[in-house]
Amino acid sequence: MEESYKRLLTGNKKWSAEKLKQDPDFFRNLTLGQNPEYLWIGCSDSRVPANEITDTKSGQMFVHRNIANMVVHTDMNLLSVLYYAVDVLHVKHIIVCGHYGCSGIIAAMENKDNGFVNNWLRNIKEVYEKHITELEAISDIKSRENRLVELNIHEQVHNLAKTRIVQQAWKKRQLQIHGWVYGFNNGLITDLNVMMDEISDLEPIFRYDL
Ligand code: CO
Repeated sequence: MEESYKRLLTGNKKWSAEKLKQDPDFFRNLTLGQNPEYLWIGCSDSRVPANEITDTKSGQMFVHRNIANMVVHTDMNLLSVLYYAVDVLHVKHIIVCGHYGCSGIIAAMENKDNGFVNNWLRNIKEVYEKHITELEAISDIKSRENRLVELNIHEQVHNLAKTRIVQQAWKKRQLQIHGWVYGFNNGLITDLNVMMDEISDLEPIFRYDL
């Protein structure tokens, strides 16, 4: 068996040498710390590499990825990343970026047993049920999938706004939450225009008296 993992190490050597050639201080500057303006919440899908598709460099974006770019309020990993990005790094923008053709979304629309992953996909099924009238009025299955991708992103933007972390930040400063969708057809990101930047954007029942 060819040891395919070795090409990652070879690739890293090549990348490191190129960076040093462009800027001899590149790595020295990274040791000084990070000051990213953005928190990216994206899908784990290998075809949606956050820095690559946004043409951003090391140090510019704090990144969290999971299956179908979900914001689950009991997910300690997501909450820790969110807390650190908002309260310590003071990011100005949180971007939930989903993508068309998302396997997580497609799987959640089916009844197939996906073993342990059922627990995660369950959250997407809840989004489906919430918008069932709109979704089932779309007869073309591909179009229905695409719409659920968009509705799911919108829902995750709201889920961020429902956290104390975000609401606390809104009391003190500007923080925008954006919902974006990426397409493999042309490599472009579309802004879904579902931006939230103040507590009045959120349904009253989810607002905390802070
Ligand atoms: Co995906």
